[in-house]
Amino acid sequence: MKRTNFQSSLAMARNYFKDFNYRLFVTFGLKFCPRTFISVLFLLFYTNHTPNYHHHNLTCDNWKKEPEATIGNCTRYTKFALLLCQGGVSNLKTISEQKSRKIDGVMFCGWPDKYFNPITALQTLPNVKLLSIEYGVMKEILYRFPEMFYLQTINISWTRLSYVEPKTFKRVYNLRILDLRWNQLTHLDSPLILSNTIEFFFLNGNPWNCTRNFKWLLTWEKADTVTDRRDLLCHDRKYKDRHLLTVINYKMALKHTCQKHEDLKNCTCSMHHIVPKSHIPLYTVNCSYLNLHRLPAYLPDNTSSFYANGNKITDVSPLRNNNHYRYVDDIHLDNNMIESIDVLEGSYWFEHFRLLNLKGNRLRKIPVYALGNALDDNPHASLLLLSRNPWYCSCKFAMRFREILNKYNAILKDAWNVTCIYKQGDELKSSKVMSITRGDSVELFKGLKIKLK
Ligand SMILES: *[C@@H]1O[C@H](CO)[C@@H](O)[C@H](O)[C@H]1NC(C)=O
Ligand SMILES: *[C@@H]1O[C@H](CO)[C@@H](O)[C@H](O)[C@H]1NC(C)=O
Ligand SMILES: *[C@@H]1O[C@H](CO)[C@@H](O)[C@H](O)[C@H]1NC(C)=O
Ligand SMILES: *[C@@H]1O[C@H](CO)[C@@H](O)[C@H](O)[C@H]1NC(C)=O
Ligand SMILES: *[C@@H]1O[C@H](CO)[C@@H](O)[C@H](O)[C@H]1NC(C)=O
Ligand SMILES: *[C@@H]1O[C@H](CO)[C@@H](O)[C@H](O)[C@H]1NC(C)=O
Ligand SMILES: *[C@@H]1O[C@H](CO)[C@@H](O)[C@H](O)[C@H]1NC(C)=O
Ligand SMILES: *[C@@H]1O[C@H](CO)[C@@H](O)[C@H](O)[C@H]1NC(C)=O
Repeated sequence: MKRTNFQSSLAMARNYFKDFNYRLFVTFGLKFCPRTFISVLFLLFYTNHTPNYHHHNLTCDNWKKEPEATIGNCTRYTKFALLLCQGGVSNLKTISEQKSRKIDGVMFCGWPDKYFNPITALQTLPNVKLLSIEYGVMKEILYRFPEMFYLQTINISWTRLSYVEPKTFKRVYNLRILDLRWNQLTHLDSPLILSNTIEFFFLNGNPWNCTRNFKWLLTWEKADTVTDRRDLLCHDRKYKDRHLLTVINYKMALKHTCQKHEDLKNCTCSMHHIVPKSHIPLYTVNCSYLNLHRLPAYLPDNTSSFYANGNKITDVSPLRNNNHYRYVDDIHLDNNMIESIDVLEGSYWFEHFRLLNLKGNRLRKIPVYALGNALDDNPHASLLLLSRNPWYCSCKFAMRFREILNKYNAILKDAWNVTCIYKQGDELKSSKVMSITRGDSVELFKGLKIKLK
């Protein structure tokens, strides 16, 4: 199966070679690199052999077991015009120039170094049509490939290659097939610059880091040549096993909708998760510190987390009335000017939220029993923060409020920081609601009155 693929791609490459546009080649060659061009022409006329490298059945699969691998030397298979190097290239330089020129294909099995230098490795092999580097510890291609006029297939697989500089293959003028599967590539900053002759470009089997920018895979005009782009999988912690293309599509769509809506112009929208199996994306919208006087009228579908800290918001009724907020799990509104959340009583949102942060607002009172009911009915509620508000220490309210803070202290995690004041505007005289008892409260009132006298 593996071999069949290999051979068919090589056969394909051979056919394309037949269609080779000689006139373009001559013009191009003479104009840009006359010296190389003339030597190439010379070779064309004087080394007239039939290319039969595609008939071979050699593979790198068992390279470690081959006797050559212990020394790291190369063997010529004249029948296939192929050079097979296993575990190294110690005798590469000893092959005569004349013989090297007759080589159509070179396979480096088990490249032994961290680096692959295409300039030295291909120096004596100007005519190769096929280059294969398989297995081994190669991590990096040191320089850009030299000008190569015949090289049509480059196969680098099962190595530790972790990055490819965009211009690496730029001067491989007739590249048809580029196979970079099963390496350790994590990202490509921009699309590779490849010859227009490119037909197949494989990238599957690499541990792609989808938190990086892969926008080019959607926008690049040659994106179609990435034959297996639909198969690429993410390997980073955030998106592990999600499809790379899915991640980019969501990111682009989110960016687009956030830019389109005036209310979100200055906010930051990001994706923080893709739910496994259902592949529903979850978004975070951050509109903190933007001097907002009201909640944005629009949020993208699948927003699950919303931040609007440090604004001047007074009204939370959109949580009840605006459908865009209906399924937002977490809402952060600390340091705003909210005076009341009464409007949330009995609303869908209040019975389904996961997190509500109201620290540092202007809340004085809340419908205590409604809050209790909502928390009873809401199995998702995990955090509700209410400290740093000017809660009112009236006897009746403070007692009930304390009860709730106590009962739901697993959710009201800042309960011990919730303080109340006795007189509006007088923040100095405050008590911890949790430590108030009925008697205390009365005593405190008395004490206060005595002091005031
Ligand atoms: C590249 O080599 C691998 C074997 O290591 C093989 O499976 C694959 O088919 C080759 N790619 C092409 C395009 O022939
Ligand atoms: C390759 O073909 C030759 C005959 O041409 C055969 O002797 C050899 O066993 C084959 N090798 C593999 C790995 O199939
Ligand atoms: C390569 O190494 C093998 C194993 O030692 C040896 O038999 C063979 O002659 C060497 N070939 C060349 C061309 O040096
Ligand atoms: C992925 O890229 C991000 C951002 O560059 C980086 O912080 C993170 O460590 C990378 N993760 C992996 C698994 O490479
Ligand atoms: C976004 O910021 C700009 C510049 O600070 C401001 O003029 C504009 O009104 C802001 N838009 C919104 C919707 O807040
Ligand atoms: C959320 O994302 C999924 C998947 O893209 C989509 O089908 C759905 O319509 C989106 N909106 C909501 C509200 O779930
Ligand atoms: C939200 O944006 C603010 C201001 O840009 C920033 O300080 C804060 O860290 C952001 N929060 C999150 C959760 O991204
Ligand atoms: C309570 O307040 C103290 C002092 O301001 C702060 O350090 C602590 O983080 C607060 N605890 C909670 C749960 O908010």
